[in-house]
Amino acid sequence: MVKKVFITRNIDEEVIQTLATHFQVEVWHSEHHACPREELMKQAADSHALLTMLSDQVDQELLDHAPQLEIVANLAVGYDNIDVKAAAEKGITITNTPDVLTDTTADLAFSLLMASARRIVEAADYVKQGSWQSWSPYLLAGSDIHHKTIGIIGMGKIGEAVAKRARGFDMTILYHNRSRNHEAEQNLQALYRTLDELLQESDFVVCLAPLTEETKGMIGAEQFALMKETAYFINAGRGPVADEKALIHALQEKELAGAGLDVFEKEPIDSSHPLLSMKNVIAVPHIGSSSFETRKIMMELCADNITHVLTGNDPLTKVH
Ligand code: GLV
Ligand code: GLV
Repeated sequence: MVKKVFITRNIDEEVIQTLATHFQVEVWHSEHHACPREELMKQAADSHALLTMLSDQVDQELLDHAPQLEIVANLAVGYDNIDVKAAAEKGITITNTPDVLTDTTADLAFSLLMASARRIVEAADYVKQGSWQSWSPYLLAGSDIHHKTIGIIGMGKIGEAVAKRARGFDMTILYHNRSRNHEAEQNLQALYRTLDELLQESDFVVCLAPLTEETKGMIGAEQFALMKETAYFINAGRGPVADEKALIHALQEKELAGAGLDVFEKEPIDSSHPLLSMKNVIAVPHIGSSSFETRKIMMELCADNITHVLTGNDPLTKVH
């Protein structure tokens, strides 16, 4: 019997064709709409593999209705959308896409930092709206990046790649992580700090922590209050790690200078959300790993994981 693979979003045609040489492949084809829950449930019922997006909820209910499922290959490094424990109990393999997106995601995090500090989005809008009447000394003045202090929360691979970029800007690098990262301390001169110390000392706080029970709401009112009034908060990890209400309050009270956000508590964020009307907030739609090159490699890795598992081999990048 030919095994079935369901892909919850239209991906690279070559990758689909490669899978189709071995398996029956079905794809949710809409460019603009995520695969609805009912459709995912229906497809999962007779699928052996799912290739999922980070916006698909792979929970107990879904897994209970997928008797033949052998693998869920998530097109992301994060996998907080998947009930890993429930999957493990059923012997279903979960894979993610670590490493291949590290530099691309670090580029985006650093872009948000730079764009926030130098007010790039505001400045570009200013010109496009025809507001530029004259040059003036403090026109859209921002803050320096070079020689400042960056504080990285979550010093995994992406954190290290951000630190590497920061070194090129002669920044002082602080980090906070569940466990000490001795390699980063040695190779990147990153200095370990408690979370409170990091928040107090940093000019740029860059959050890359994955979403877990422990990290949910980890940056709240108390934490924002510790930040410098001149500091920027960058989040390129997962939205719920920071408390958005507390962030809004802190920005309104000028407890910090601004924010650059790739991730939100609810995605997509509502267009009427108060963060979106703040000039000192840059919001982008969870595009951390979104380069053509990297997304294709992520898709290939998902397909390789699926092929391996459905042919009785070990997956390449199983989550722990
Ligand atoms: C994106 O956020 C990812 O986890 O890959
Ligand atoms: C950080 O969150 C990482 O996975 O590198």
